[in-house]
Amino acid sequence: MLRGFRHQLNSSTLQPGELQLRIEDLQLSFGGVTALFNVNLELHQSEILAIIGPNGAGKTSLLNCISGLYHPQKGRILYHRDGEHDLTRLRPHQIARLGIARSFQNIELFRHMTVLDNLLAGCHVHMRANLLASMLYWGPAEREQIEFRQYVEDIIDLLEIESIRKQTVGALSYGLQKRVEMGRALAMKPAILLLDEPMAGMNAEEKEDMARFILDINEEHGVSIVLIEHDMGVVMDISDRVVVLNFGQKIGEGTPDEVRQNPVVIQAYLGEDRSVFPFKMAVNNTSNRG
Ligand SMILES: Nc1ncnc2c1ncn2[C@@H]1O[C@H](COP(=O)(O)OP(=O)(O)OP(=O)(O)O)[C@@H](O)[C@H]1O
Ligand SMILES: [Mg+2]
Repeated sequence: MLRGFRHQLNSSTLQPGELQLRIEDLQLSFGGVTALFNVNLELHQSEILAIIGPNGAGKTSLLNCISGLYHPQKGRILYHRDGEHDLTRLRPHQIARLGIARSFQNIELFRHMTVLDNLLAGCHVHMRANLLASMLYWGPAEREQIEFRQYVEDIIDLLEIESIRKQTVGALSYGLQKRVEMGRALAMKPAILLLDEPMAGMNAEEKEDMARFILDINEEHGVSIVLIEHDMGVVMDISDRVVVLNFGQKIGEGTPDEVRQNPVVIQAYLGEDRSVFPFKMAVNNTSNRG
């Protein structure tokens, strides 16, 4: 346990590099709209996997399938933890309990509650004590509450949000709300953290902070990360592997370097707004942590 964490942050028991999540032939449509078509991908323990692609490519839909908000018409989502779990038909709270937590493209927090209470709410997915015991604050429930409180303090420390712990979430800047939302996902002790555009709408400094937190969570605690992000500089800098979606299909996959040189990927982005894929970056930005 690093950085003074008193309890294990990552609930996974796999070794780094072991297969953790396998998505097979995933297909999802809404009426006539195909959001995902025959998508296959794998995530390995302690990896940072970026999902990129133009608007409407199916990135959020893919995360929604993994976290149980959407149920695909075809395909399977298999998760390895203590044995293999088929997530395909499970409900969101069951998947969260298995150790897959997420943040949302549009922040989903309890806006009228404090930062601290939002983080504590994240812990509740693991509450073992029954409601009556927790209300009486008695016996095992008391121990559990103390453990959660310590755990949340560790998260506050990690994400450097001590100064805003008592503030109402709705009053915080957008960048800080995004940070708190990631904190709430961490409170679920995830083996896998799914982040849907965690840096959208942030300024350069806030993005840098967020990238550092993501790397800390991954490198110090071994939490696997699936990251949807439009900022290609960030994606190229922090991911181990990149999967590219376009019109619901996987059109490319590989290391950041492989992906930015993939002609199919370049073509897909050329058909879109060119600013989405800054080619000068392919020349200038060679800083990949791999
Ligand atoms: N609940 C829904 N009902 C109907 N259509 C949907 C729903 N969710 C997604 N879609 C459609 O599925 C396609 C993929 O959408 P998705 O939100 O997954 O894209 P995305 O890659 O996350 O895009 P963005 O970068 O804009 O967030 C789009 O055509 C979208 O309109
Ligand atoms: Mg999206």
